[in-house]
Amino acid sequence: MTPPLLGRFALVTGAGQGLGEAMALALAEAGATVALLAREEAKAAEVANRIRANGGRAELLAADVRDEAAVSRARETYESALGGRLDILINNAGINLRKPITEFTLAEWNRVIETNLTGTFLMCRAFVPLMTGRGYGRIINLTSMMAHISLPGRTAYSASKSALLGFNRALALELAPEKITVNGISPGVCDTEINAPLMGNPELRATFLAKTPLGRWGLPSEIAAAALYLCSDAAGFMTGTDLVIDGGWTAQ
Ligand SMILES: NC(=O)c1ccc[n+]([C@@H]2O[C@H](COP(=O)([O-])OP(=O)(O)OC[C@H]3O[C@@H](n4cnc5c(N)ncnc54)[C@H](OP(=O)(O)O)[C@@H]3O)[C@@H](O)[C@H]2O)c1
Repeated sequence: MTPPLLGRFALVTGAGQGLGEAMALALAEAGATVALLAREEAKAAEVANRIRANGGRAELLAADVRDEAAVSRARETYESALGGRLDILINNAGINLRKPITEFTLAEWNRVIETNLTGTFLMCRAFVPLMTGRGYGRIINLTSMMAHISLPGRTAYSASKSALLGFNRALALELAPEKITVNGISPGVCDTEINAPLMGNPELRATFLAKTPLGRWGLPSEIAAAALYLCSDAAGFMTGTDLVIDGGWTAQ
């Protein structure tokens, strides 16, 4: 059977670990050429090597998504390595800082907003021009269940992720004439590095597990499966919305 994304070009940010790594590997397995954007090239290089070892094609792009000039350079590198065509853009790079509002410095607040929200804007602005004119395109921006509900200590994170829901709706409308869909994926708790403060604390782990109706952490492969669905032709009528994959947390 022909792999479903054979001939497609994809870019995943924060692709060196966690959900980004899982999505990059899944896209490559589905036949796409994958550009892996990361600050830390070493980790993304390992993922790229695994893709190549499986017969796939992968390129590395080094950039901090908060840095406008670095994002422009990443686009130049992309074009010289892979040409002027991009079909799938997954803005996955993200951070979380958990603390009461009175303890947030302005620099910390800005770091969360600039990574999660402004970084997504900079990446879309730089790469959308490579996506138009083909009658197919998929943009997936990683939001969070914390965009839909929240917890104490999540002001910056929830603000940045809720803002992405609005960003996705507006960009979906803007790009609909190009048949480029724009959607979010809102994961619940997955056991990745972003949750190290939670996973490393037995009491918090137990509390979070008890709050998840399905009683377990989400798997990166389950988020990757949702990304593959959004990239498929079957999802061609879905845009401006969000897939919540949270073990039932937000149903409560
Ligand atoms: N895991 C969950 O439970 C969960 C739940 C809801 C939403 N999400 C969202 O899913 C996305 C992926 O999270 P994850 O669980 O895979 O976390 P992770 O393991 O911490 O991975 C985050 C990735 O983003 C990269 N990154 C952070 N800041 C960056 C920047 N300024 N420029 C470029 N890359 C940057 C990191 O690279 P460095 O190594 O360079 O920092 C890392 O590769 C995030 O947007 C997160 O908010 C995750």
